[in-house]
Amino acid sequence: MTTVLLKGVRKDFGSFTAISNIDLDIASGELVALLGPSGCGKTTTLRMIAGLEIPSAGQICFDGKDVSEVPVQDRNVGMVFQRYALFPHMTVEKNVLFGLKVRGVGKTEAAERLEEILDVVQLQQFRHRFPAQLSGGQMQRVAIARTLITNPSVLMMDEPLANLDTKLRGEMRRFIRDLQQRLGITTIFVTHDQIEAMELADRVAVIFDGKLAQFDTPDTLYKHPNSIEIADFMGATNVFPAQISGNSAVLEFGTLTLNGNPPEGSQSVMLRSEAIDLHLEQPEGAQNVVEGTIATRDFFGANITYGVTCGGNTVNVTEQSRRIVDVGRPVWLSISPERIWAIKGTA
Ligand SMILES: Nc1ncnc2c1ncn2[C@@H]1O[C@H](COP(=O)(O)OP(=O)(O)O)[C@@H](O)[C@H]1O
Ligand SMILES: [Mg+2]
Repeated sequence: MTTVLLKGVRKDFGSFTAISNIDLDIASGELVALLGPSGCGKTTTLRMIAGLEIPSAGQICFDGKDVSEVPVQDRNVGMVFQRYALFPHMTVEKNVLFGLKVRGVGKTEAAERLEEILDVVQLQQFRHRFPAQLSGGQMQRVAIARTLITNPSVLMMDEPLANLDTKLRGEMRRFIRDLQQRLGITTIFVTHDQIEAMELADRVAVIFDGKLAQFDTPDTLYKHPNSIEIADFMGATNVFPAQISGNSAVLEFGTLTLNGNPPEGSQSVMLRSEAIDLHLEQPEGAQNVVEGTIATRDFFGANITYGVTCGGNTVNVTEQSRRIVDVGRPVWLSISPERIWAIKGTA
């Protein structure tokens, strides 16, 4: 198993700095997602780790050894791309075996590994088909098999599911997660989709504008973003400016008690929409109660999101659609202190 370390890595293209000073410490067997909007530098980072680009500054280490100058063919990494790049005139078998052939692996060993890997990706029954006779998900599994058969010490995937429809993407995510856990292979997965990153990864590295904005577990990123931009990117809808002193936050529509004192310079609070309770009567014994009126209702099947007007602000509240409350109804909102997160900066 292999650890991957990036130390102060920078990449310039001419006078343009695509990546500035990124530090990442990826544990052996960990699945890390590189997440960020298009153009933020995800592919460039992946290509440097693979050895397809040389960093302008900094170091990349595998298992503590500096590989910054080691060319791609000597790094033993496996790459899977969004475009499967399968050979159309070769069967599944031949496509999967191709990587071994160019590496000069002997016939007997190649045949053994082929059986193993076809089992792993569940493609035994499709082994004699050509790419045109496969679904998108099956083609992607061939592409993964072709990479895995070379026994890479680090597996890298660049938006591998972007071409698949929603349902198939979900299946392939679970497939990749399961496979990665069984094999215990250190994996770096690039995506611009925060849901995909949270579902797949042990930790997520969010990159904005060539800079590492936060590197944390999905749970921490979602509940405790370190900036307004991260909160926004992770889909937070309730971020409000607040005057914070001690454990009290004064918002336009009320004063909330926080769980402990946030750091100096905190100027906003985030209330996750699903962390807010909606009451039809004024609740007794609840903390942080605010009065409002339901202004909008969006039905998503299992869930409903209400837009609740509270003193000129709209607070979004999401709950299960076991009950449906009418627009125009006066309501009370409450939120427990440990569910309120203070953030530096303002939206
Ligand atoms: N070979 C290159 N020459 C010049 N600029 C590049 C090159 N490759 C990438 N860039 C620029 O670097 C930035 C990051 O690109 P990229 O890593 O592909 O982003 P992402 O994968 O996050 O969409 C973009 O502004 C892109 O235009
Ligand atoms: Mg890219």
